[in-house]
Amino acid sequence: MKFTIISGSPKGEGSITLQYLLYIQKHNPQYEFETFHVGQKIKSIEASQEKFDEIIDSVKSSDGVFWITPIFYFLIPSQLKRFIELIHERGVTDTFQDKYATAVSTSIRFFDTTAHNYLHAVCDDLKMKYVGFNSLDMWDIFTESKRDQFLYFAKNFFSTVEKKEPVSSQYPPLPEIKTTYSPGSVTNKVDNSNKKVVVLTDEYKPETNLGKMIKRFSDSFTQDIHIAEISKLNIKGGCLSCIKCGYENICIYKDDFTDFWKSTMKNADIIIFAGEIKDRYLSSKFKMVFDRSFYMNHTPFLTDKQMGFILSGPLNHIANLKHLLSAYVECQNSNFLDFVTDEYEDSGKIDNLIQSMADHSLTYSDQNYIRPHTFYKEGGMKIFRDDVYGRLRFICQADHRWYRDNGIYDTFPQKNKFTKSRNRKLMFLTKFKVIREKLYTRVNKEMLKPIHKIAVHPDK
Ligand SMILES: Cc1cc2nc3c(=O)[nH]c(=O)nc-3n(C[C@H](O)[C@H](O)[C@H](O)COP(=O)(O)O)c2cc1C
Repeated sequence: MKFTIISGSPKGEGSITLQYLLYIQKHNPQYEFETFHVGQKIKSIEASQEKFDEIIDSVKSSDGVFWITPIFYFLIPSQLKRFIELIHERGVTDTFQDKYATAVSTSIRFFDTTAHNYLHAVCDDLKMKYVGFNSLDMWDIFTESKRDQFLYFAKNFFSTVEKKEPVSSQYPPLPEIKTTYSPGSVTNKVDNSNKKVVVLTDEYKPETNLGKMIKRFSDSFTQDIHIAEISKLNIKGGCLSCIKCGYENICIYKDDFTDFWKSTMKNADIIIFAGEIKDRYLSSKFKMVFDRSFYMNHTPFLTDKQMGFILSGPLNHIANLKHLLSAYVECQNSNFLDFVTDEYEDSGKIDNLIQSMADHSLTYSDQNYIRPHTFYKEGGMKIFRDDVYGRLRFICQADHRWYRDNGIYDTFPQKNKFTKSRNRKLMFLTKFKVIREKLYTRVNKEMLKPIHKIAVHPDK
């Protein structure tokens, strides 16, 4: 059997993820493998039809496909995303149809799930036979039991392909948006004179639904807002994952990106991301911008802002995209406003939603309102904290300094003296059955006491 490996890492042969595939190949010499470094060579693949066709021909003659990728910002790198777009744009989806597929990633497992949901949906859209995924920590290869598990996963994939076993598909095709949005007149503009409002979009085209929604949003305010177009910026390419930014947050690229990010995005009070949905995400151009913001590594860099999304496309059918975008906002320690899309037939409803988002962005901003975060940020920051404190510290030194200076390490439970001494005492006492039973009967009541005291306190 033959397998095509489509590798999304911009590091090419230097990819960590690729090493896991080399490991599979070493243990399965009976199969043929052909690898394409799509993440590293996307520019030449896009420029040369011949190079693109070479990959497509390989898929054609294969029994299965391995999508292998690092996790970048809740998803895959922009370079691999662009390749997926090219499959659709160049009309070669048929080649992928009925091919067995699997996905392998390495990461520190921060939102690896949303990336794998995305890849699964991409495979279902291509009508591939998606068998499952393996999300590995970068260092799993050092542990024998994990290597064994990984080989078992591969064996299972090969056997599924060999036996032509049936697989389920879980993501129904997305509906096409057929409505044309016709904005009404704006009667109740709100005063934004003391706020910096930025709309970030790929390209502002006034005649499209997206363009009209952006204009309607802009018209909601008394003063001009800033519409920043990615296509007008000189951004030379996607993140190369060279990690040289780890020392002091300086990107190796010499282009417009960092200045734009610092001067426009960081200074904004209100940011609206406005884009068209392409496959199951925004465009690869948008993804490139998110990936390039990695020069700030694992620190929240767009903090205390109001953020919303104006999107054209079937967002309400892509729960995964909603999760990851709202998680992005939370992880930045900003406030999520709303998703407004062109899915509604009634243009008046879209007008009202846009106006409401504009109104709320100002009132919330005045109040410095940030909705309490959820599992997304709570869990995400703990992964970051542990890795920056530990194995990533010497690489991500800028992160380490920021975490140390901003009290991120102070939340390590072992640093809290009160908790430590209380645990020591109570754990000792619970060794005695009589005390243990008494303690466990009182525990809920005792935990509630100080919380209730504040809840009903007349002055708080
Ligand atoms: C731009 C960028 C974004 C990243 N985003 C994430 C992320 O969202 N979640 C995560 O767990 N790791 C993230 N990482 C870490 C990589 O996924 C990880 O280092 C991976 O193992 C690299 O694989 P590779 O060597 O095959 O490229 C990111 C790294 C870079 C450079």
